[in-house]
Amino acid sequence: MNNSPRPLALVTGASSGIGVEIARTLAQSGHDLVLTARRAAPMDALAADLRAGGVEATVIAADLAADGAAARLADDLAGRGLTVDVLVNNAGLGGAGRFDRQDPVRVHEMVQVNIVALTELTRLLLPGMVARRRGKIMLVASTAAFQPGPRMAVYFASKAYVLSFGEALAYELRNTGVGVTVLCPGATESEFFVVAGADHSLMARKFRRMMPADTVARLGCGALAAGRRVIIAGARNRLMALAGRFAPHFLTLPVTERLMAED
Ligand SMILES: NC(=O)c1ccc[n+]([C@@H]2O[C@H](COP(=O)([O-])OP(=O)(O)OC[C@H]3O[C@@H](n4cnc5c(N)ncnc54)[C@H](OP(=O)(O)O)[C@@H]3O)[C@@H](O)[C@H]2O)c1
Repeated sequence: MNNSPRPLALVTGASSGIGVEIARTLAQSGHDLVLTARRAAPMDALAADLRAGGVEATVIAADLAADGAAARLADDLAGRGLTVDVLVNNAGLGGAGRFDRQDPVRVHEMVQVNIVALTELTRLLLPGMVARRRGKIMLVASTAAFQPGPRMAVYFASKAYVLSFGEALAYELRNTGVGVTVLCPGATESEFFVVAGADHSLMARKFRRMMPADTVARLGCGALAAGRRVIIAGARNRLMALAGRFAPHFLTLPVTERLMAED
């Protein structure tokens, strides 16, 4: 049961990287937290830290790649009497390599976590927000959303889905009291490139000075509070996103393939 007067934020992918920093940032701005991801240990440590600062923090371990995971998570929240005011769909993963050579299990995970769970969780928690005429939803996309990405085709396409879905949702909901913000980070310090098998790509090596995850979180949470529809994290990333969207694809396809390929 939400016992405290503070709004409650659910952050997916709260066991590492950007999700941890979004949880910390929301706690600092007066939210209680529900943290979810597969690994409980890092979330337990984060929750203990947040509780020491007077925040109520709940950990729910869940595999969002599993069929029906979003529904089980929503049931779990309801069973605990927890009403979510802020939903942060941050969990996500990449997979590098030519599509026909990629592990089919990884392909399934990417689609399930980046697209299916994000969509289903939003569908399940949104009606309550609309009924209360109060709520905020953050969808974490990427600068990858602005162009096709050979050698990470599914990941780039999944983020294009998130951006398109989020912008449309923000517009649909404009008079409901519920705000939707799409956060588009560029290369960010986290476990992302290692998990994606892309830590030896030119992209990972070229952008050795990636944006710190706490900076991305601060920008995203600021945009969420301000009711912005889309935020691209940082001036360099804004330029890259613009180039990805407007440059002819006969130019961007080979450049992106070069950046994502193993060297
Ligand atoms: N880092 C970048 O350069 C970058 C750039 C643009 C966008 N992004 C996006 O930012 C978001 C956060 O990524 P990150 O950079 O912070 O990477 P990260 O450190 O690898 O964190 C990914 C988070 O997603 C969770 N996750 C992955 N698979 C899951 C599953 N099956 N079920 C539940 N949770 C799962 C992970 O938790 P468990 O492993 O514990 O389950 C982890 O907490 C992602 O959506 C990513 O696409 C990242």
